[in-house]
Amino acid sequence: MIRPALPQQQTAFSRRFCVAPMMDWTTPHYRYLARLISRHTLLYTEMVTTGALIHGDSDRFLHHDPEEYPLALQLGGSNPGELAQCARLAEERGFDEVNLNVGCPSDRVQNNMIGACLMGHPALVAECVNEMMTATHLPVTVKHRIGINGRESWDELCEFIDTVSATGCRTFIVHARIAILEGLSPKENREIPPLKYDWVYRLKERYPHLEIIINGGIKTLDECQAHLEHTDGVMVGREAYHNPWLLADVDPQLFGAQKPIATRHDALRQMLPYIESELARGVHLGYITRHLLGLFHGCTGGRQFRRYISENAHRRGAGLEVLEQALALVPESLDSAALST
Ligand SMILES: Cc1cc2nc3c(=O)[nH]c(=O)nc-3n(C[C@H](O)[C@H](O)[C@H](O)COP(=O)(O)O)c2cc1C
Repeated sequence: MIRPALPQQQTAFSRRFCVAPMMDWTTPHYRYLARLISRHTLLYTEMVTTGALIHGDSDRFLHHDPEEYPLALQLGGSNPGELAQCARLAEERGFDEVNLNVGCPSDRVQNNMIGACLMGHPALVAECVNEMMTATHLPVTVKHRIGINGRESWDELCEFIDTVSATGCRTFIVHARIAILEGLSPKENREIPPLKYDWVYRLKERYPHLEIIINGGIKTLDECQAHLEHTDGVMVGREAYHNPWLLADVDPQLFGAQKPIATRHDALRQMLPYIESELARGVHLGYITRHLLGLFHGCTGGRQFRRYISENAHRRGAGLEVLEQALALVPESLDSAALST
């Protein structure tokens, strides 16, 4: 049954450039760093399942720092009532958007009817989205693939979008390849099925009233600019994690705004008070620093920086001095003249 949705929040943020949800990667620590480097990027959490939120330690799964806003919570699930409950939690906890994962191909989640397998059940996805929209004022968005094996035609993709958008959902984040649900690992499913960007462009042409965000294999801001000729936004995953300084040009190049921070050294230094408070909460330094290792990607001294942290951050009692020592291994004068790789 389609019930009237609550009026959705007026978005005070843009989806022109987003960092993708990535399990174990887009943790609060990574997101804090990303936010120091770009004010305008929309950040996504790792996927949290409805089961984990409802029956587990919801405080832990929803933990974030207000500095990270704008921030979207990604949910995994297919029980409309549970998704509605979790969407309400997202609103109570200050998130800016709730996103439903219809793209993850892992066996573990398929067994629970979570992720890409839901592309085979458009009516169920619509029911889930409708219940979520009824439960929250937050924008409810869907991240999906262009298909799954056995359901990979253009018409089936359009049937999915038609059915889900009939709820009033207007934002679709499209990973421009199919997922193959048997026989490929999640990693292979991010590499082997060919990217079909033209399909995402065609979606925008066919559904001009919908907001279409393109995802998959995007590595540079020049590529982002090219995609933005055809779509409303871009979502970047792996490259934004391995090379977070990519975000430094997002505000000036994609939003016409000032660069929020001048150098990588400044970014790390500005992060120190946050790290100190996390250490005081009992978080181990190594859990934080593993997400900072990409900061000097492609820079002279970058390898030494990574090695020093990897060798020292896990030692007992390791504190900020490890980062200060690591930072000293990267020549500051060379910082802005980083080599491109
Ligand atoms: C380590 C890792 C974890 C991921 N976890 C999620 C997830 O929790 N939810 C999701 O929708 N996609 C997840 N993805 C997929 C990404 O969001 C993205 O769709 C994919 O990596 C393609 O974008 P890219 O080529 O820019 O990395 C994950 C990707 C990686 C590399």
